[in-house]
Amino acid sequence: MMEITAGGSTFDGVADLLILPVLGDLTWGPGAEEAADRLGPWLAEYLEKRDFTGAAGQIVSVPGGGLSYGTVAFVGLGDEADAESLRRAAGVAGRFAKTYSSAATTLHLISVDGAVEAVTLGYLLGAYQFDEYKSEPKPNLNERLELLDADTDVAERIDRAAAVARGVMLARDLVNQPAVDKSPVVLAERARTLSDRISVEIVDEVEAAERGYGGLLAVGSGATNPPRMVILRYEPKDAKSFLALVGKGIVFDSGGLSLKPAKGMEDMKTDMAGAASVYGAMQAIAELGLPIRVLGVTPLSENMTGGLAQRPGDIYTSYTGKTIEVLNTDAEGRLVLGDGLGIAAEADPDLIVDIATLTGAAKVALGPTVGAIFGNDDEAISMVESAARFTGEPMWPMPLERSYRSLLESSVADMKNVAADRWGGAITAALFLSEFVGERPWVHLDVAGPARSDRVAHYIGVGATGFPVRTLVEIAEQMAKKG
Ligand code: BES
Ligand code: MN
Ligand code: ZN
Repeated sequence: MMEITAGGSTFDGVADLLILPVLGDLTWGPGAEEAADRLGPWLAEYLEKRDFTGAAGQIVSVPGGGLSYGTVAFVGLGDEADAESLRRAAGVAGRFAKTYSSAATTLHLISVDGAVEAVTLGYLLGAYQFDEYKSEPKPNLNERLELLDADTDVAERIDRAAAVARGVMLARDLVNQPAVDKSPVVLAERARTLSDRISVEIVDEVEAAERGYGGLLAVGSGATNPPRMVILRYEPKDAKSFLALVGKGIVFDSGGLSLKPAKGMEDMKTDMAGAASVYGAMQAIAELGLPIRVLGVTPLSENMTGGLAQRPGDIYTSYTGKTIEVLNTDAEGRLVLGDGLGIAAEADPDLIVDIATLTGAAKVALGPTVGAIFGNDDEAISMVESAARFTGEPMWPMPLERSYRSLLESSVADMKNVAADRWGGAITAALFLSEFVGERPWVHLDVAGPARSDRVAHYIGVGATGFPVRTLVEIAEQMAKKG
């Protein structure tokens, strides 16, 4: 694990890499002008040749020259040094450091409020790599990160940001793992390796049948790998409030008998990102020791096409007793989440938040990077919205349009699992879920788009993003504060 320290403000340190911030229109950030002076007059011309203006996302490196660093890099912040642009610039720096064979990096900070957290987080997430499956993994030589220009007493804030980053990276690791290596049984056992402040209950398929987890079993029935319900509990003595997190954990979504086309299946190992974000967030919350009780519920299953797979037209009884007519086996997330939400609601928390890669429709509506927020409680929705804005994980509220509920009416069961046509698919999915929480404050996050990225952007690489772990931790933080 990387060692992160702060303090000092000069170039006297020794590291392979020194990274300095530059704002738009080549406005030097702290240290950058002095470094530029020391490097020599050729630098200005070189930066110009490379079209370096300090715009967000830019990074340019030169040999360290007279400075005690092998390489000096200038990273662009764009026009503003707010938390997100700092996170992003630090992410670009982290990404650069990982390609540069470096044993240590010194990063100059822009001294604004919260910069230490932003830079620590952005750097760690930018430097993240998943190469477990490469025959020649890149050596992770980046062992030391030194933050300069920081206030002196920041160790605690660095630790906090690093704990959050570890939660995000845990979620990324789990999501990036191929489905063949994360069967529900394996993923359930993985929960036991989380913080020992978290207790873990694993419900197998036999016990699930006894308890009546009908949705989980219906989806799991087509797979040879049996499903699991994992219930995580973090219950500190000083807890002031009670949050339940429910995460969709489809380790692979083939669509079942309502089979997906090949293209639509390529990324479906990502379909447990909700569950992964619950693991990651709870791990961070426990590490931070936040005074809030958290219940995590992650129904884990594969959605496959085996001989016992659910058939369109089948009817099952969910944990809460509602009967569901399954017309499309590819709308499986809502089936397992129904049981998960039922379990959460039973515990009577102050707020239930579910996280799910639930619908392609949410991705169509908001694009690949923005998550959808639904819910039954305006106060809870705006709390989640501002937590998302604060952390820089984009999410936008969508309407839980009650009049669409009629689209889910079934002639033979209490509800169908899909509407007759695809319009408003994210909304009808959310309405389906709302049936399992009763009147309790509940927020549903459809993260079908942002759970994964197909392109590199600042502290996000190709593959799992760890979305929305940071928002979940922030929600817990807010609720712990409010009591
Ligand atoms: N896991 C998918 C949703 C998804 C799609 C996530 C694309 C990420 C990227 C979900 O289980 C699903 O298949 N939903 C269907 C619902 C439909 C059958 C009503 C969909 O969105 O097409
Ligand atoms: Mn599906
Ligand atoms: Zn799915």
